[in-house]
Amino acid sequence: MQQSEQTVSEGYLRRYEEAVRRDPAAAPALIAGWLRTDWRPLFAELRARRPVLSAPGLALVTRSADVREVLSRWEVFTVAAYTDRLEGALGGPVMLSRDATPLHWRERGLLQVMLPPEDVPAVRELAGRAADAALDAAAPHGRIEAVGGLFRHVALRVCAEYFGFPGPDEATLSRWSREVITDVTANLPGDPDVRAASARAGSEMMDHLREVLAARRAAPPGGPPAAPPGDVFDRLLRTTLPARAGVDDERVLINVAALMLGFVENASGSLVHLVGELLSRPDAHARAAEAARDPDPARVDGHVWEALRFDPFLKVIARVSARDHLLAAGTPHATTVPAGTLVLAAAASAMFDADAVADPLDYRPGRPADVYLHFGYGPHSCVGVHPGAAVICEVVRRLLRRPGVRLLPPPDGGVVRDRGVFPDRFVLGLGPSGEGSA
Ligand code: HEM
Repeated sequence: MQQSEQTVSEGYLRRYEEAVRRDPAAAPALIAGWLRTDWRPLFAELRARRPVLSAPGLALVTRSADVREVLSRWEVFTVAAYTDRLEGALGGPVMLSRDATPLHWRERGLLQVMLPPEDVPAVRELAGRAADAALDAAAPHGRIEAVGGLFRHVALRVCAEYFGFPGPDEATLSRWSREVITDVTANLPGDPDVRAASARAGSEMMDHLREVLAARRAAPPGGPPAAPPGDVFDRLLRTTLPARAGVDDERVLINVAALMLGFVENASGSLVHLVGELLSRPDAHARAAEAARDPDPARVDGHVWEALRFDPFLKVIARVSARDHLLAAGTPHATTVPAGTLVLAAAASAMFDADAVADPLDYRPGRPADVYLHFGYGPHSCVGVHPGAAVICEVVRRLLRRPGVRLLPPPDGGVVRDRGVFPDRFVLGLGPSGEGSA
């Protein structure tokens, strides 16, 4: 199917160009606002009429092939937008702050070994247990505040028990996550207060991790380990690598911090979006609930990823171009992206591109896995994809098994967000309707 077969509005480009003429500096904020509220029609128009929207200092890339080109070409489209932010918080480099450095190569490999796909059944079990306990506690009230009471709570339990990073308490761990990730992903203008809050949270987190590491190392030789055996932190500490790999204690700690930082906001935000989407589609909800009752846990997964395609939490992935580059070379929309441009690769748009996805407007659970870009693409694609996907799918599975789970009407319904980005409150009804909606 060609792009033109999708319904295409004509309004966004025109309004964008008018805004650029009036005040070029205000144009990125206009795009940021549309990304929150109008992303589907905005992207449909851009894919059809201006697949690479290029403005001074900014390029928005909307077709699947071009998004994949941006995310593959690390030597041109770098992660420089993350470097100062992540390194300011962690006190040193981390995978997502460096492109094709030896450190990225080595530590990505190390984490792949530490997070094997074989852990998925145990991670699902852990997430499922935590989700059921939270749902059992909420059931008598006929409702659950799903962000703090379920989605973040389960993610933080997985950080504690699987990664081995409980923090001093759940609330502190949650605050560290939010403050650092706000600066990394939601501070385009570079507000210095947000940057400073992230640096403070990051330094508290690293100091705490140094103490935990000292306690784990101090466990008596041959005696019981200071932490449950087998968590990822423990695996890292017990792995002896050649000195030339340079994985000293500080590198271990930065990677443990990265596990938590990569996970909590993404998992919780994605769960809010996809559960909202599923529950607003009665047929899709019924089919997903039936799959959730199947003894095979993986039967629900296709429903999860399709719901998230229709309302992804992460709509764009940011890169900075290191040199001039002809993007989409050989196509009618080939565009030179100048060095120093902030390039937004719109993964959410790529998943609706009719040249890459069959009948993209059809809601069709069970699409081939390569349709989805929820975990990124290319050399920086998510290294936590296996546990991350397991947790998201299992939480949805346990939730959908509950009778009467539903969206609530105003004033209780809807999602309350921090900075218009991170969900903080999302109340769902549980049990027979009539309860919990007052
Ligand atoms: C649960 C839902 C999750 C989602 C939706 C998600 C999504 C993503 C995406 C889109 C990227 C690409 C970022 C980019 O290219 O700029 C990414 C990278 C990354 N994710 Fe995740 N993630 C999730 C869970 C996790 C978990 C559980 C971990 C850790 C165990 C993790 C650790 C990372 C790391 C370290 C990177 C950077 C990899 C690199 O630079 O090579 N993520 N994630």
